[in-house]
Amino acid sequence: MKNKVLQRLKIERIASEGKCVGHHDGKVVFVSNVAPGDVVDVRVTKGRSSFLEAEAIKIHEYSDNRVSPFCEHFGTCGGCKWQHISYELQMTYKRQQVVDQFQRIAKVPLPEVMPIIGAKDTRYYRNKLDFTFSNNRWLTREEIDSGENFERNALGFHVPKRFDKIVDINHCYLQGGISNEVRNELRTFALKENLTFYDIINQTGLLRNLIIRSTADGQTMAIVQFGEDDPQGIDKVMSFLNKKFPEITSLLYIVNLKKNETFLDLDVHTFAGRDYIEENMEGLKFKIRPKSFYQTNSQQAYRLYQVAREFAGLTGKETVYDLYTGTGTIANFVAGRARQVIGIEYVEPAIEDARENARHNQLTNTQFYSGDMKDVLTDDFVSQHQKPDVVITDPPRAGMHEDVIQMLLKLSAPKIVYVSCNPATQARDVALLSEKYQVSRIQPVDMFPQTYHVENVVLLELN
Ligand SMILES: C[S@@+](CC[C@H](N)C(=O)[O-])C[C@H]1O[C@@H](n2cnc3c(N)ncnc32)[C@H](O)[C@@H]1O
Repeated sequence: MKNKVLQRLKIERIASEGKCVGHHDGKVVFVSNVAPGDVVDVRVTKGRSSFLEAEAIKIHEYSDNRVSPFCEHFGTCGGCKWQHISYELQMTYKRQQVVDQFQRIAKVPLPEVMPIIGAKDTRYYRNKLDFTFSNNRWLTREEIDSGENFERNALGFHVPKRFDKIVDINHCYLQGGISNEVRNELRTFALKENLTFYDIINQTGLLRNLIIRSTADGQTMAIVQFGEDDPQGIDKVMSFLNKKFPEITSLLYIVNLKKNETFLDLDVHTFAGRDYIEENMEGLKFKIRPKSFYQTNSQQAYRLYQVAREFAGLTGKETVYDLYTGTGTIANFVAGRARQVIGIEYVEPAIEDARENARHNQLTNTQFYSGDMKDVLTDDFVSQHQKPDVVITDPPRAGMHEDVIQMLLKLSAPKIVYVSCNPATQARDVALLSEKYQVSRIQPVDMFPQTYHVENVVLLELN
């Protein structure tokens, strides 16, 4: 079937991971970048006995559900794949994904899935963006066909599935404040000064990566990663940013001569300002350092944590375990309403941040431990810390390890609040927990408007 063209396929609905579904000769066909209601010609990219994957090559009829994407980079950038669908429908589809995954995978009695908690800000909602410098800019079909010579240096985002190609971003609707200005001014300066943009194939070039983090009250952190240890070049770039953008409260840089862009194992140098920014949530202050994890949509993170806290139903007497605590944000957020909160997390520096944030907020009833969940959450650990009345768990996309689920079944806490960014693995884990628990509430939250991602909170109560 590969490469076969299927004509006038009717797109019926949205499935998981944002893919749409049609049918051909009784087989399901998954198609990306279309909308339910479209009629399209598609080319098969993968053929299996039970389903096909295909790409749209011609749209015959546009769905009435479509809206005009507002971003000039839509379609190449891959960052906001659902801009062609109205926000109301995005919310309907996201909720439906949760319903579908729970019915298909969990197969347990379910309460009504609540309407998704939508975002007030559907643009400029992210507090962190990561831009890549490249000497291999993505060229459009028109640019290639024109035969002209174009600037090949770029600063922007990866083209989906292309590690070596970067879309040069002129305006991004994901982050507000000075994000767009900083990126564009830095690129203009670098081009004017003939500074080298990174060459991913040969691993050369001075300018490698730019991360911008921001807070709701206007603090900005800019981190520049350099691919060469060139003090003069580094000073030139950092002095430029410092002078041009006095609003940057935390101006940092990293020399990264490694093959990959991760910098958890590298020194971060402070060029100007502080080495952190500080986000505020309900009077609590969270220090965000360059290596710290912090939920990327602060406003919706607050809504998510409110849901988790409400589901936990705390009275001030409970021992709460916050599993996969990251930098302890949930643990610190609920601490004011619990007797004690114990956070566990894999990444040691995140645990240090969690402890620092607790101290910073004068919280004395939180404790944090680092290590792999299945190794830390043991009978010994529980006997040293008291059994939990409530477990809050927020694992990565892959969900929880089966040993952790077995331990939760053994612990039999009266309530488990399960927060997840992947309803499929969440539904799988809920099925295993249903041996002792029933699902009593399901609340999806939209953390990422214009994308198909959905966050979901489930309350499980002991039978
Ligand atoms: C979705 S994040 C949770 C974030 C946090 N609850 C928050 O809201 O900021 C998942 C966390 O699980 C941690 N993690 C992943 N695998 C782990 C494991 N096997 N054991 C312990 N922690 C793990 C990751 O480092 C990450 O911080």
